[in-house]
Amino acid sequence: MKKDFLSIIDIDGYELESIVADAMRLKRLKSAGTAHEFLKGKSLGMIFEKASTRTRVSFEVGMTDLGGHALFLNPTDMQLGRGEEIRDTARVLARYTDAVMIRAYHHATIEEFARYSTVPVLNGLSDRLHPCQVLADIMTLKERFGNLRDLKLAWVGDGNNVCNTWILSSALTGMEIVVASPPRYQPRAAVVDQARAGGGRISIVTDPEEAVRDADVLYTDIWVSMGDEQERTERLLALKGYTINSRLLARAPPDALVMHCLPAHRGEEITDEVLEGPQSIVWDQAENRLHAQKALLLRLIAGGMPATE
Ligand code: CP
Ligand code: NVA
Repeated sequence: MKKDFLSIIDIDGYELESIVADAMRLKRLKSAGTAHEFLKGKSLGMIFEKASTRTRVSFEVGMTDLGGHALFLNPTDMQLGRGEEIRDTARVLARYTDAVMIRAYHHATIEEFARYSTVPVLNGLSDRLHPCQVLADIMTLKERFGNLRDLKLAWVGDGNNVCNTWILSSALTGMEIVVASPPRYQPRAAVVDQARAGGGRISIVTDPEEAVRDADVLYTDIWVSMGDEQERTERLLALKGYTINSRLLARAPPDALVMHCLPAHRGEEITDEVLEGPQSIVWDQAENRLHAQKALLLRLIAGGMPATE
């Protein structure tokens, strides 16, 4: 049966370990210049309802590295933009491709696509979740810490799609997630309840200093996500005070790391000084999108990486 990746909890802890281990192996093969064309002749469809730099380029280069091909599909250039239904598009693309990645405004669009697709579907970001990002982030933290169990990640700012995904991942990694957000922009209660029911350790506070006090990792994301543009003024007002700046970083342990999924708005959720500073690991996170997604594609399309590699 085909396997989708719509949420980080579509894989279990064992699969997560093995995908991250494969991603690290693929990273070494790439840096040694060793060919690793394990998806020769395979095609990935990529539908983007919203803008993207990292997701688009990492999936496209990833398929090329693996000897396959990726197709960038803009809904406005497809019949989708003229009213063809998602379920019809899903069934047709499945007759041509080996997997489809979608970035959509509404999570329900991706769920509907997956329901009708007979090939694996990957969530490239929705209003609710961004699992490919957190997969690469987990790999990045594993490179730094080895074991993630009992690490504490402090999310500071908007309780958005990336934050929801971190919350859901808590039970998979054993990490504790503390979210500091203003009341109006806290993560979805349903996600928090689901994560806690699955054994995740989550707390929600309003004070960023309280969240970062004994955190190993500080994480933030833009205050105005794609699709939230009409709320820009209210958001900037409510989130003022949630910037990761040198003063807040000084409240965290001195070896705490700083993460951001990018794109960053310097001066809003993070200062230039912190983003460019020695505790920031944002460029490693961005790079690891490539390696983690290649491992994920191998798992979903070919059942995993060849054992000999
Ligand atoms: N972090 C991330 O998904 O970036 P893009 O929007 O550029 O794909
Ligand atoms: N929360 C952001 C993430 C961008 C990668 C957004 O949804 O726009």
